[in-house]
Amino acid sequence: VRHTVPAGMDRKESDAYLRLDPARLPQHIAIIMDGNGRWARRRHMPRVAGHRAGVAAVRSTVETAARIGIPALTLYAFSEENWKKRPKTEVDFLMRLLCRYLKAEIKTLNQNNIRLEYIGRKQELPENVQCEMNDASEATHGNTGMVLTLALNYSARSEIVDAFRSLAEAAARNGGLHHLKVDEQSISEHLYTRNLPDPDLVIRTSGEMRLSNFLLWQLAYAEIYVTQTLWPDFRGVQLLEGIEEYQRRERRYGGLGQDPGHVHEHAKVPAHAEGKH
Ligand code: FPP
Repeated sequence: VRHTVPAGMDRKESDAYLRLDPARLPQHIAIIMDGNGRWARRRHMPRVAGHRAGVAAVRSTVETAARIGIPALTLYAFSEENWKKRPKTEVDFLMRLLCRYLKAEIKTLNQNNIRLEYIGRKQELPENVQCEMNDASEATHGNTGMVLTLALNYSARSEIVDAFRSLAEAAARNGGLHHLKVDEQSISEHLYTRNLPDPDLVIRTSGEMRLSNFLLWQLAYAEIYVTQTLWPDFRGVQLLEGIEEYQRRERRYGGLGQDPGHVHEHAKVPAHAEGKH
């Protein structure tokens, strides 16, 4: 029996959705949105036109992820490095674009029961941007569906530094540094993502094979899917294609998995006995 398609999907999306197993969807998808600049250059347009076009890709991806019931989606909107190394005009444009997106999107986020969160060193962003960010997350605070996390001024190494500081401060408050407990669980609990499961799938657009300082701790076991599609051309259907590829892969977490090559000879079922009993 084929599963039913969520309302509002076009033909291509429905076809892609029907190829998925709805029982094995990734619980958290992280996306490195790359290629806005190249998209614009190919059209002889300024880089910022690529960022503007990237907003439509964000909308489509967020809506499709929510519709099919993905519990968590995290988008790398800009890194600490982007923010410090790009010309001020481009950074200012990205800030304005973000504020406009946050204001315009609250209604759709609420309609889709999406809660908005952030990761990154928010306190280093301009005051007015922080204000818009707080307003948007407060306006969606009561939603119980998908958690959409925007990584803004984010760096995975800074996050780990902040986690160690926060661990040490917590120990100091609780009676001194000899109370410091460092293990995988305590580190995870002090990361910005403490309330999220680790991503099962990370998608990167525009063909680059790098993690670029994104969720380094959390992506330890994630499947990596790289598509040549430039971010402004990415839509819900490309998200579904990424999930399809994810479902084709076998996840082993360091174990041996189901590959018959790993099974001991004596444990193998003889071919002639298969399906007989
Ligand atoms: C990468 O392309 C993209 C960015 C640094 C910015 C991402 C921003 C958006 C998609 C729009 C605004 C975001 C939200 C959440 C509304 P690039 O400039 O590095 O492209 P290039 O590698 O081709 O130069």
